[in-house]
Amino acid sequence: MKRLLSSVAACLLLATAAYAADPNPADLRQQAQEIFKPLPSTVPAVKGNKITAEKIALGKALFFDPRMSASGVFSCNSCHNLATGGDDNLETSIGHGWQKGPRNSPTVFNAVFNIAQFWDGRAEDLKAQAKGPVQAGVEMANTPGQVVATLKSMPRYVEWFKAAFPSEADPVTFDNFAMAIEAFEATLVTPAPFDAFLNGDDEALTAEARQGLQLFIDKGCSSCHSGINVGGEGYYPFGLIEKPGADVLPEKDKGRFAVTNTADDSYVFRAAPLRNIALTAPYFHSGKVWDLKQAVAIMGTAQLGETLNNEDVDLIVAFLSSLTGKAPEVTYPVLPAETGNTPQPVSQIIPVK
Ligand code: HEC
Ligand code: HEC
Repeated sequence: MKRLLSSVAACLLLATAAYAADPNPADLRQQAQEIFKPLPSTVPAVKGNKITAEKIALGKALFFDPRMSASGVFSCNSCHNLATGGDDNLETSIGHGWQKGPRNSPTVFNAVFNIAQFWDGRAEDLKAQAKGPVQAGVEMANTPGQVVATLKSMPRYVEWFKAAFPSEADPVTFDNFAMAIEAFEATLVTPAPFDAFLNGDDEALTAEARQGLQLFIDKGCSSCHSGINVGGEGYYPFGLIEKPGADVLPEKDKGRFAVTNTADDSYVFRAAPLRNIALTAPYFHSGKVWDLKQAVAIMGTAQLGETLNNEDVDLIVAFLSSLTGKAPEVTYPVLPAETGNTPQPVSQIIPVK
């Protein structure tokens, strides 16, 4: 009996040790405010690109227009579906000619706040980024010249470009195509319960989410995932302490090494922005992990050298779920009609025999 009692006591002790004490919300908020920032309540300003209503409307049309791809099949929204978390929920994206790309598609929601774009940060900002997928052979497989020819063939688009870039004599350019998309993307912000908490509402987070936030800070997750996007601000080796197996971290993709050509940057990636993470499975640049709990556990061993217990993982996931925000309401645009001059789509689909 005595033994039984003491083992029960030991269990209780263990159980309390496993859970972070319910933190005082005001103290926790103060700590969190030093690490994170709430989303702004208005459309953020973008360097070198004055955001106007006309630019946003044009950018929205371009974002949804599959005729920006060589095949006429893929729009930005194909892989960054605004109805499913701003990504495609595939391991790695499927693009031109049904090709499977090398990386998982990140969400476009809140991307405007990342210090640089792509898993390896190779595009400086969203206007630089937008030119990439259009030309990528495995994505939209188009050329700037063909995009401009397509746009100029539709009088409606020419009008919209004139309205969006009123001071320019020849506004239908590939640069302006990218500027308009950036303006639209700047509107894709998703205020979440976590923002309400940062702004002073204790009840915006459940007790579990608050404990998870405390753990996220205390365990050291926030040393890499910080700032307005809870990540997206710095570059770190994936496998800082312990390199995950090739099933999660395929050997071929060396991340930032391809950008900087520095040996130290082998397997270095941008600390992923974690807003809306509960909506954007599968996880990591490889898209190999479908379960958020598993992704958190892998981060524990790979980045912190710590095996997180199930309770801690659950609490951290409760916090991460409080980063799921309200998606902006986007009305599906009616796009300009093509004309006899519109270049025809090229398909390179191998017929099924
Ligand atoms: C075939 C699928 C596909 C299409 C089409 C596509 N993307 Fe992407 N997008 C991706 C993938 C995959 C990545 C990550 C690539 C990498 O990091 O190397 C990405 C990355 C991005 C990012 C960076 C986000 C971040 O967190 O770094 C933005 C922004 C983005 N795409 C916007 C667009 C826009 C705008 C278009 C249309 C002009 C577009 N994408 C078309 C698949 C696609
Ligand atoms: C040393 C820096 C560092 C630390 C510490 C860290 N992370 Fe990460 N995290 C990263 C990097 C880098 C990536 C991108 C990995 C890749 O390339 O797929 C990432 C990716 C993730 C992802 C997947 C994101 C996606 O879009 O697929 C999640 C979830 C995540 N981290 C959560 C956590 C949690 C929870 C902790 C603490 C237990 C943590 N991280 C600690 C750097 C870090």
